Amino acid sequence: MASPIVAPSILAADFANLEREVKMLNDSPADWIHIDIMDGEFVPNISFGIPVTEAIKRHAKKPLDVHLMIVHPERYVEAFHKAGAEIISVHIEACNHLHRNIQQIKALGCKAGVAVNPHTSVYALEDTIADIDLICLMSVNPGFGGQKFIEHTYHKVKQLKELIRKTGSKALIEIDGGVNLTNAKPLMEAGADALVAGNFVFSANDPKSVIGQLKNV
Ligand code: DX5
Ligand code: ZN
Repeated sequence: MASPIVAPSILAADFANLEREVKMLNDSPADWIHIDIMDGEFVPNISFGIPVTEAIKRHAKKPLDVHLMIVHPERYVEAFHKAGAEIISVHIEACNHLHRNIQQIKALGCKAGVAVNPHTSVYALEDTIADIDLICLMSVNPGFGGQKFIEHTYHKVKQLKELIRKTGSKALIEIDGGVNLTNAKPLMEAGADALVAGNFVFSANDPKSVIGQLKNV
């Protein structure tokens, strides 16, 4: 079993000390920095937007993994690319033209991700999966950090892994929501490649050590 790609979610960081938090991640074994963008419409919460993403980018030495929980993501992907995103994920539930949206992200030179809510079947990705670089499988209902992991996710990871195998897709499976040291290993065994962790990392006394433990599951 390969070591997971670990992507701490900055949503759980101390926003009054973002520079310090980003530098902590630079010095940690984290692979990506996960950036949660919420618009108060697609999800019932508002986080932050483009200027804060630019500010994070100024200090970050790791790729920015931007998760757009917004309606009309096609209107904003270019702005997030300019703000420094390496990976941009749009929600399948927010896209009327998912294939076009994936091509738009790739044309900018970014990795194209598609996020999938807990209620959405992974088979909804069947016709686009060959073009997708990353599937962000939501293991909580998006909108808030610190929620409880939904156990059905294991089943979806296995289904998705099989779909990826069958279609020859190169997509990575990222798990987002409620990830901790109890579910990290079974998620990797089920076929996950990347783990997002917000509260579990940032509420720890020693976040760098927790990131290291997640890398070593
Ligand atoms: C949920 C976000 C997640 C969240 C994860 O809407 O997409 O990325 O920040 O936070 P934890 O790990 O605290 O569930
Ligand atoms: Zn997220």
